[in-house]
Amino acid sequence: MTHRLAFALPAALSLVASFSSTRPLASEENAAYLDKTRPVDERVEDLLKRLTLDEKLLLVHADSKFTTAAIPRLGIPQRWLSDGPHGVREDIGPHDWNPAGRTDDFATALPVGVALAATWNPDLAKLYGRTIGEEALARGKHVMLGPAVNIHRTPLCGRNFEYFGEDPFLASQMVVPWIRGMQSQKVAACVKHYALNNQEWERGTIDVEVDERPLREIYLRTFEAAVREGGVLAVMGAYNKLRGQHACHNDYLLNQVLKREWGFKGLVMSDWSGTHDTREAALNGLDLEMGTNEPYDQFFLADPFKRLLETGEVPMSVLDDKARRNLRVMIETGALDGRPAGSFNTKAHQQTARRVAEESIVLLKNQGSLLPLDPAKVRTIAVIGENAVRKHSHEGGASEIKALYEVTPLEGIAARVPQAKVTHALGYKSGRWSPEKPPVSADAETLIAQAVESARQADVAIVVGGLNHERFQDAEGSDRKDLSLPGGQAELIRRVAEANPRTVVVLVSGGPVDMEPWLEKTPAVLQAWYPGMEGGNAVAAVLFGDVNPSGRLPMTFPRKLSDSPAHALGAYPGQNGTVRYEEGLLVGYRWFDTKGIDPLFPFGHGLSYTSFEYANPKVSAPGPASPGGAKPTVAIVEVDVKNTGSRAGAEVVQLYVHPKAPRLPRPPQELKGFARVFLRPGEQKRVAVTLGADAFAFYDPAKKGWVAEAGDYVLRLRSSPRLGRFELPFTLRKTLEMAP
Ligand code: BGC
Repeated sequence: MTHRLAFALPAALSLVASFSSTRPLASEENAAYLDKTRPVDERVEDLLKRLTLDEKLLLVHADSKFTTAAIPRLGIPQRWLSDGPHGVREDIGPHDWNPAGRTDDFATALPVGVALAATWNPDLAKLYGRTIGEEALARGKHVMLGPAVNIHRTPLCGRNFEYFGEDPFLASQMVVPWIRGMQSQKVAACVKHYALNNQEWERGTIDVEVDERPLREIYLRTFEAAVREGGVLAVMGAYNKLRGQHACHNDYLLNQVLKREWGFKGLVMSDWSGTHDTREAALNGLDLEMGTNEPYDQFFLADPFKRLLETGEVPMSVLDDKARRNLRVMIETGALDGRPAGSFNTKAHQQTARRVAEESIVLLKNQGSLLPLDPAKVRTIAVIGENAVRKHSHEGGASEIKALYEVTPLEGIAARVPQAKVTHALGYKSGRWSPEKPPVSADAETLIAQAVESARQADVAIVVGGLNHERFQDAEGSDRKDLSLPGGQAELIRRVAEANPRTVVVLVSGGPVDMEPWLEKTPAVLQAWYPGMEGGNAVAAVLFGDVNPSGRLPMTFPRKLSDSPAHALGAYPGQNGTVRYEEGLLVGYRWFDTKGIDPLFPFGHGLSYTSFEYANPKVSAPGPASPGGAKPTVAIVEVDVKNTGSRAGAEVVQLYVHPKAPRLPRPPQELKGFARVFLRPGEQKRVAVTLGADAFAFYDPAKKGWVAEAGDYVLRLRSSPRLGRFELPFTLRKTLEMAP
């Protein structure tokens, strides 16, 4: 639902709409709800009792594409929601998907969600959330529609680039600080899309069938962390169905799990036009209907809802609960109190964008240490590829940003080595994916020939390829058709690498692409994701060694699509409107490990320009875990990590837990801890990773709760699940059961 048309509203009009403020009537001025020294609950209850039925109803549905109505007599302002997960989107509407035509909504464009996940750096995630929070404040937004945390079930999902990869532990570790960072700015985060929006194919109707354990252990885990640990204030329902019922009004997901089990006190909003039924929306836990059109009062949670309330078919307490949740978020975001000014397009924000991009880039391959390039020695560089000059931040669907600027890889490289001769050849045109188009057309042949010639004449060739946000690539509303690189890039890379053995490939994409046709002949490959407004500078910094790459893959790169679980089992995209998650728990590396399939690059993989050695590993148990404690520590794993190379760099120590004799089937190993450590040449640090009971736990459907079973485990310390380092035996002496 993110169509962009050329029509623009006068800027002044939308400015007024965005920053309008409302003063309460004099009669309300001393009311408890306006007293910011009082507890939030008290303020909410006080305000709730002053609202009429119609005013309460105004709180639970939209009055434009991204707002809810003001209630001026009580000082309730129009509430502003905004996409998205990678920065504050340009203003839309108000009553259509046209850009509002403002000139003050250029913003900081951060690298995409999957890039952030590839940093494995929770501190950076916090800064990322905070950065968007500061910009949201400055733009008058109360709720930001992110982070987006659906698990990568298939590499083809069109929105994988927004999400945090295939592992719920890694995603949780990144998302919790993201939310805290944003909400520290009095801006509500809205974690989305709850739940199981793991494909764009038929996203509005597809019915997901999934067993309870994978639902809990894989697909809900990150949402649970967002709620329980991150204290997220808003949750967005997904378009798809779960077990026959739409996720936006799914009793199990919303009432039973989110609100009852997890104790969520914030608001659930629909995805845009994701509501389909008034009674279900009323009774099954939806608190705010969004994505409707004029006349707004005719949608599900407006007049039709009022009729159910007036006839007594739905009790008033249901509306009160929804209104209460909306008021809570309003008060938590300072909407009634005057909010801080925030800050916008600052140097610090741009530096954050650059840092995230630099730390996210994954060095996949570096044969013969071709990288880093020596800036003093390189005289001619052939930069090749559409993505060397293409900007991506302003595309991609709901996550698009009207970037203040975006440095392309070509610009970044040229700026880094001003003394070198840098040429550019397009090499390919990706265009739109079309099954009819032959991979190498006549035009493509000319582009390749020019690129090959430029490569032949240069000291080094850098092909910047990959995908973009066109339909059937990394785009909302459609999935990829396969793993192939569009526009005949496979042929291009193969021939460039043949012409110049010093060829580096830089991939811009939200996930794996097919590299089989050219990888063997290509000495160096970088995975750069969509690196945001500072992307070109970050790519250049890594290529020339100013930055030592430290990104790690947040998903498995398969050799071929049919190696991936959903595809191996024919369980994507589903049949007759239903997709059954046949692979159960075996998503991503859990499948590759179980089946002994060799991936192209494993989850957690990422090379460095230096080398690290691990020594003296130790496991200790700090004594019996105290029941009822927030997250009691069960084991502490320590290891010495030393930088044995000649460049400073960061290593990511990864800890996988292997249960030796589980009562129920479990994946052979799961990531349960990691630590990022920065070391100068020769430097050594003792790194500690702590494990709580949850690191050993699985979801036991019979008990309807999490259980960490007593027994023997192996704690595997390594720099990716496939690289052996240390296997440390550990015995959990007592079974620990955790409340659901
Ligand atoms: C997307 C959401 C987005 C919303 C508002 C929907 O189509 O799925 O992620 O926040 O539109 O743009």
